[in-house]
Amino acid sequence: MKQLDDLVESASKQFEDAIHQVDHQVLEETRIEYLGAKSGKLKEAQKGLGKVAKEDKPVAGKRFNEVKTRLEELFQSAADTITGGGKKGKAETLDVTLPGVRPRLGHIHPITQTIDELKDIMGRLGFSAVEGPEIEDDWHNFEALNIPLEHPARDPLDNFYLNIAASSHGGGNQLLRSQTSTVQIRVMENKQPPIRIVSLGRVYRPDEIDATHYAMFHQIEGLLVDTNVTMADLKYVLRLFASSYLGEDVEIRFRPSFFPFTEPSVEVDMRWQDTWLEFGGAGMVDPNVLKAVGYDPEEVTGFAFGLGVERLCMRRHGINDIRYLYDSNTKFLAQF
Ligand code: FA5
Repeated sequence: MKQLDDLVESASKQFEDAIHQVDHQVLEETRIEYLGAKSGKLKEAQKGLGKVAKEDKPVAGKRFNEVKTRLEELFQSAADTITGGGKKGKAETLDVTLPGVRPRLGHIHPITQTIDELKDIMGRLGFSAVEGPEIEDDWHNFEALNIPLEHPARDPLDNFYLNIAASSHGGGNQLLRSQTSTVQIRVMENKQPPIRIVSLGRVYRPDEIDATHYAMFHQIEGLLVDTNVTMADLKYVLRLFASSYLGEDVEIRFRPSFFPFTEPSVEVDMRWQDTWLEFGGAGMVDPNVLKAVGYDPEEVTGFAFGLGVERLCMRRHGINDIRYLYDSNTKFLAQF
């Protein structure tokens, strides 16, 4: 009986030790020492039961079972405490040897990453980034850009006009801007040449959504105004820009086109998977626009361009449908 009582006492000390050390190894060694099936101390005690006198056997057997239960409890409670599964809840101790739970980190959306990179590239070419409002008025979105009232680009079916009070600026309607060219006007109204800016942001059009069109998308607008700026400067900057973002071997071409606010105007295409894809428009700032902001077209000239940010991002990463960018599918987005 004394041997059985000693067993409980020494076992409880050793299991306590294992808890203090928060050590699975010590716990397992203690378990084997006391509860080991082959030569654990409990097994030894069981063998000793055979030598007990017949009349003492019931008492000794009962005590043996109590000790066995107690030792198993001691082991279980130590194991629960060490691994944090005890009845009291989480262990107050930390096992630094266990693999941790890796936190799930979010990351920047591919379009925001693209915007940051494009700003960087243009920054290296000396263009500083400026912002403009997404809610615009007729003056900045159309009028000052040489787009008169009767122009089809102002059709309510092609724009998101807002049902709010007229602006204090040029008056008239308010709308979600349909292009970032609005920022050209805002910058030139407030600053004298030389000007060398880019503006990247959201624009809105009620376009039918398909693989290359979305109703909300982003544009990068560039504007350079100075003395003696020519079309050669525009082409040089756009070529440098394209090869910096898409790689030295990118093919780019300029097609004659028309925009009311540039003259001459070009469409900028880049080659993708054996086809030419339109990335945006560009041209020399129309003298009427320079006049609208109070510049003298005899003194200064400038170029401007506006490209689709989604199209650039898609070309760079081989994304063949713009909708993937806005489906909020984290499996897709996690790739970037
Ligand atoms: C313009 O928006 C002009 N403001 C560009 C410009 C700026 C010309 C400065 C001259 C001087 P456009 O409507 O073509 O042009 O749009 C430019 C680019 O935006 C397109 O080539 C395309 O890349 C992108 N884009 C147009 N509509 C969508 C759409 N619904 N979804 C995604 N990208 C679009």
